[in-house]
Amino acid sequence: MDKILDLISQRVADGFAGAGYDAGFGKVTVSNRPDLCEYQCNGAMPAAKTYHKAPIQIAEEVAAAVAGDEAFSEVQAVKPGFLNLRLNPEWLAAYLEQMRTAERFGVAKDPAAGTVVVDYGGANVAKPLHIGHLRSAIIGESIKRIQHFFGNETIGDTHLGDWGLQMGLVIAALQDQQPELCYFDPAFTGPYPEEAPFTISDLERIYPAASARSKTDEDFARKAHDATYELQQGRPGYLAIWKHIMAVSKADLRKNYDRLGVHFEVWLGESDAQSYIPPMLDDMKARGILVQSEGAQVIEVQEPTDTKEVPPCIIMKSDGATLYATTDLATIRQRMQTWDPRRILYVVDKRQSLHFEQVFRAARKAGLVKPATELRHIGYGTMNGKDGKPFKTRAGGVMRLETLINEITDFVRAKVEENKLVTGDEIEDTTAKIALAALKYGDLMNAPTKDYIFDIDRFAAFEGNTGPYILYTIVRIKSILARYGAWEDIPVQSPLTGEAKDLMLALTRLAEVLEAAYRDDAPNLICAYVYELAGCANKFYHETRILTEEDPEKQKGYIALIGLTKRVLEACIDLLGFSAPEKM
Ligand code: ARG
Repeated sequence: MDKILDLISQRVADGFAGAGYDAGFGKVTVSNRPDLCEYQCNGAMPAAKTYHKAPIQIAEEVAAAVAGDEAFSEVQAVKPGFLNLRLNPEWLAAYLEQMRTAERFGVAKDPAAGTVVVDYGGANVAKPLHIGHLRSAIIGESIKRIQHFFGNETIGDTHLGDWGLQMGLVIAALQDQQPELCYFDPAFTGPYPEEAPFTISDLERIYPAASARSKTDEDFARKAHDATYELQQGRPGYLAIWKHIMAVSKADLRKNYDRLGVHFEVWLGESDAQSYIPPMLDDMKARGILVQSEGAQVIEVQEPTDTKEVPPCIIMKSDGATLYATTDLATIRQRMQTWDPRRILYVVDKRQSLHFEQVFRAARKAGLVKPATELRHIGYGTMNGKDGKPFKTRAGGVMRLETLINEITDFVRAKVEENKLVTGDEIEDTTAKIALAALKYGDLMNAPTKDYIFDIDRFAAFEGNTGPYILYTIVRIKSILARYGAWEDIPVQSPLTGEAKDLMLALTRLAEVLEAAYRDDAPNLICAYVYELAGCANKFYHETRILTEEDPEKQKGYIALIGLTKRVLEACIDLLGFSAPEKM
């Protein structure tokens, strides 16, 4: 289905052509003076230069040419040469009816759609999931859903940090505390126990303690490094512990991500990339792109057009150790071999932007991707506390994600109970949905790169630009529709009165907004849109007697309109990664 702006532009372009001017001047935009008109065309101004005429004269001729067009109820030429346009409600209703019956509201898929890998989540196994990773999960899930909406096959990969020093730290600490365990007995030939010798709460204690100790206790730090090295070399007892850590951590991560409505197609990690490193290194050597630099092997990635220094991408240190970048490059190789994606998106803290710049350049130099393969880092800013500093617990520590989710849930549950929004069995489901909307919308309404302040009072408010307000609007429409009865098959039709116009116009903008959100990796545009749409819906609801309307045809028009509004709002919040309850 064509976007409304394109349809209107086409008609105005025809008007320019009909009046003897170049059709290229007929570009229409949404009015920046909504008090005067709905759409406008400024093409007469540049046309005046080309044709050496007064702009108002051209505008008047074009207005006359367009005047009879069924799409418009008003076409006005105003000084110095604007064309002010209002749409005919009948024509608008017909457009909305097309939207209502089309699949995906008539939003066109990306003609170049293919496979897209979204790398998000990025939790580090053995370390507790903390709120530093929250934004990646929230933004990544939404980005993935948007990519999918436009027809791409999407693969969300959580890319666990599961192969680093944190593993060695846990192993060294365990060995210190329980040296008698079979995992540490070199003579033990297995099989190793099925059951892990620790729980997730143990791990949450062991890792921070070990990490702190390694900073002051040199001997321990060396043991942790050695354990990491031996693990990576495949020492069986250490591998067995590593598997336990993985199982225990993954179960916990899954639980948290489930609560966030975040789901990964694959749970691969840094460890899965390791087998791709040796052939990749051979390949790099054969291409002659590995350079010796201070004992390390690097790939130069500086380009002549750079205005700042881009340091080389270090592939291997002098002691043979590989790095974060090496793993990311090997992961690209793995993804290309497994899925051959057209695009890989990384939803990772913006402080890693230099890392990704180096990795992407190195990947191209190494021929790991095709020239057309897009590699994009979607860097996000920090979630701050009210003091403007990175969000912390009251005690000043790093907050665990689970704690944060629990706090929001408790806060919302208290409101739900106090206002008796629902009762009994429904309390938990409604609470969970509102809490998730508060948390996600509070994040996604900001452009990803922006830092933002986490403010539970503001995010969970039922009024203002918040997730719960959007849900409230949807629930309210649901209740009107439920009281009306079967509404799904009623066509959007005129007569729709003046009050409906803003809502109708807002609905027509869906395709444009979603396309921009897709193009710019910007879920915040969808938030701004649902807020606007919800505002129009509430205004319409206040100004119109819907259920008591006596003219049944008119009432049908109203019902179809709010039915479409509900579906559009629900589709949008689904792209944001949350959903509305039945009641609230
Ligand atoms: N585990 C990393 C961290 O905590 C994030 C991983 C991001 N993804 C990637 N492919 N590097 O910083």
